[in-house]
Amino acid sequence: MHIQQLKDKPPSFLAALVFLTLVPLYYVSYQYRLTHPYGGHEPARDNVFSSTDFVRDWLSTHVVSPFNPSALATYCNRTEWRPNLVFNLENANGGIGNVRGNTLDFLFFAIEAGASIILPGRATRSQEDISNVWAARAPFDSFFDEEWFMYNMAHSCPQMSIYKPEKHHKMVAPLPGNYLPHSRRIDSDVGNTKQAYLTHLSAWLADNPSFSAENLTLVNLERTLWDIDTRSLPMGFRRNFGQLLRINPTIRRLAGIVVLNLALTFRHNINPTAPIPRQAFYGAHLRTEADAQGAGWLNDAYSNFSAQTDAYIAQALHHKLKTIYVATGNSSDLERFRTKAATHRPPLNITSKFDLLPPNEAAALRELTWDQQALVDYEVLQRCSVFSGIVKSSFSYNVAMTRGQVLEDEGRVVDPWAVMHSEEGVAFDDGVSRILGRDGWHEQRIPRGMWP
Ligand SMILES: *[C@@H]1O[C@H](CO)[C@@H](O)[C@H](O)[C@H]1NC(C)=O
Ligand SMILES: *[C@@H]1O[C@H](CO)[C@@H](O)[C@H](O)[C@H]1NC(C)=O
Ligand SMILES: *[C@@H]1O[C@H](CO)[C@@H](O)[C@H](O)[C@H]1NC(C)=O
Ligand SMILES: *[C@@H]1O[C@H](CO)[C@@H](O)[C@H](O)[C@H]1NC(C)=O
Ligand SMILES: *[C@@H]1O[C@H](CO)[C@@H](O)[C@H](O)[C@H]1NC(C)=O
Repeated sequence: MHIQQLKDKPPSFLAALVFLTLVPLYYVSYQYRLTHPYGGHEPARDNVFSSTDFVRDWLSTHVVSPFNPSALATYCNRTEWRPNLVFNLENANGGIGNVRGNTLDFLFFAIEAGASIILPGRATRSQEDISNVWAARAPFDSFFDEEWFMYNMAHSCPQMSIYKPEKHHKMVAPLPGNYLPHSRRIDSDVGNTKQAYLTHLSAWLADNPSFSAENLTLVNLERTLWDIDTRSLPMGFRRNFGQLLRINPTIRRLAGIVVLNLALTFRHNINPTAPIPRQAFYGAHLRTEADAQGAGWLNDAYSNFSAQTDAYIAQALHHKLKTIYVATGNSSDLERFRTKAATHRPPLNITSKFDLLPPNEAAALRELTWDQQALVDYEVLQRCSVFSGIVKSSFSYNVAMTRGQVLEDEGRVVDPWAVMHSEEGVAFDDGVSRILGRDGWHEQRIPRGMWP
């Protein structure tokens, strides 16, 4: 079932859907109770209700919470707005890590310019060749929670107009060429100020013969990735800005069911309201898919299948975690990992989203695109006890950076970069997340440039 189609269904269909999704929950609880009758050491609660409560509580908890947009509201209030200027992002692309980065950078550049925006979509990957990330286009809500975004922008940044053109709407022609915003990485050059960016933008507009400040002007922004020094901004701004982008709730719901079934199957006592539950399960991003191989990532040190899986097993054991949730788009490598972990002494259990979804939910997930399926992993991994992924993956690094915000909120920050001096082939470790491998470009761009 496609997300876009869901929105057009009548309420009776949605009611039927809710009913149908409760049935597998009931079934799973029932099977579980057959093998684990009441009266054991499990707390006895009504099984149907405890399952739905779990999923509801898990879904109402976000890693960075509570969301507090006051710093964003202040920033927008201090901006000089130019409603005639409209920014459009034509070329956000890739998986969630990159699209999220492109979209947030774009939004930030629009806020500083005081521009309106067109609700950004993205380019989509070819299902036949996952290394082709330019195959077609998809709207904002194919990844993100549109209602949440629109609501919060309207409340915290009401000065910005957000357009969502339909096919039949006539749009003004964009100015020729894409505008590449002047970098805001003030950490790499003290000249990269807001003023320098605005001056650069004014000069680019003035250079254009068809530009007139009185008339509506559409500007296609060239995408950027991690091009703002997020740590040069007010702390509350950096902390909350990325939370404007939440995962589409229809997809995210599957992650709640995955975690419930993981808790039932492996008998972990997971608190669904804990952003990062302690001592429950290990989350590994096994990034060995064909596109990563094609890009040569697996030839780097500490990056091939055996290096990744050795490291994940060692770290899970180090943290005394016996269940490893594996996020991967490569089913054959998932089986290899499963075999490897089972022969390990002591044996470890490997599981994944398709193992943990009841058949109808798994079928719904299979209907989604490759990058949408990964959103379920993205959500589950953010909420695992200990996480690990690889340095060249923006997906991995984004999971780690968002989890790192929880430590900052709780005042538990350890220096996540100290590990580079004590261990080989590890770029980041803050105690709840570890990033394997080394890569100069990512290590320079991400720590300050990525929005948590
Ligand atoms: C915006 O700024 C003005 C002063 O410049 C202030 O009076 C007003 O309360 C601010 N509004 C918000 C929502 O912060
Ligand atoms: C602004 O728009 C008006 C009406 O479409 C047009 O007549 C005028 O030439 C435009 N100005 C510039 C500088 O393009
Ligand atoms: C999975 O990995 C294997 C090698 O480990 C590779 O041959 C295959 O193309 C990959 N499949 C996908 C779908 O990425
Ligand atoms: C995998 O990576 C490790 C560590 O970088 C290296 O020692 C090993 O030779 C590699 N294995 C293969 C099959 O390339
Ligand atoms: C976990 O792994 C062990 C060893 O392979 C196996 O005996 C056990 O059945 C697994 N547990 C589950 C719930 O799959």
